Amino acid sequence: MKRSVVENKKMEHKSFCCDCSQIEISEQKKITLKKRVIKTSLMVLFTIFFTFTTSDSVFAKHGEKKPEKKGILLVAFGSSEASAQISFENIDKKTKEAFPEIPIYWAYTSHIIRNKLAAQGKILDAPEVALAKMHTEGFTHVAVQSLHTIMGEEYDDLKRIVNGFSQMGGFEKITVGYPLLSTQEDIVQVVEAIINIIPKERRPDDAVILMGHGSPHPANAFYAALMFQIQLKDPNIFVGTVEGYPEIADIQAMMVKKNIKNAYLIPFMSVAGDHAKNDMAGDEDDSWKSILTKSGIKCEAILKGTAEFDDFVNIWVDHLKVAMSHF
Ligand code: CO
Repeated sequence: MKRSVVENKKMEHKSFCCDCSQIEISEQKKITLKKRVIKTSLMVLFTIFFTFTTSDSVFAKHGEKKPEKKGILLVAFGSSEASAQISFENIDKKTKEAFPEIPIYWAYTSHIIRNKLAAQGKILDAPEVALAKMHTEGFTHVAVQSLHTIMGEEYDDLKRIVNGFSQMGGFEKITVGYPLLSTQEDIVQVVEAIINIIPKERRPDDAVILMGHGSPHPANAFYAALMFQIQLKDPNIFVGTVEGYPEIADIQAMMVKKNIKNAYLIPFMSVAGDHAKNDMAGDEDDSWKSILTKSGIKCEAILKGTAEFDDFVNIWVDHLKVAMSHF
């Protein structure tokens, strides 16, 4: 089916943002925001150019090698919701436990979230800014760990940034760790993690529905692949998405066919932010809870992001261990 121009625009907008449905930006603000983004990008490019041309990349003065300094950069989509901080704190803690000697830096890929936080006085770096700072601070080996769920657009952008730094030769080594769901082995582990976090009181006839973000990116296919494999173990676990495939209508139809009466709703995103609170568990007519309730399915929402559970965080940390193993 052909999408209208408005729908295409909507997709375009939604494809790179999260707390998007919450953010109502006026045209004037949009222009100001655009100008700010351009200004920031120019500043970043200047900073990178300046640091890389004035400092002595991998070699210190007189051809001596810089002393080895390893660092970790954790990169999340970001969230402005206070409820999301618990997820980030847990990842930070588990990373420190795995690498107690290595300094850990953070960056957010979403410029909308960064701008929103900046307006509240909280400055979060973009990945390119964080890497430029790390370079200036003398790091020679950097492992960048993506905290995204799939290898979607945010991950592609991050890879481009890392490749840029790699080609400039500023670091002796820079590597990237995969997002949560990147290989068949990851699917197997994520299936286990999901089964482990299901509330103990859930009966086999009750459904468990995971809400993924979803994306127009080809990696969106991982959600359906995950549902296929998890249903081989437990046929009443479903995986849907807010902005991709499968949609809630697909899940609802499957549940009605199975005559399911109760469902647990769990976000399949690292944080329980706006999508979890509103699109999944909100009281609005189009929330998943409302849609399913209308079909006679009683819903219980669990407002916890995947990064609040060690079962999931361990997968990201394992990916970071692989990235660190290349040093
Ligand atoms: Co979103």
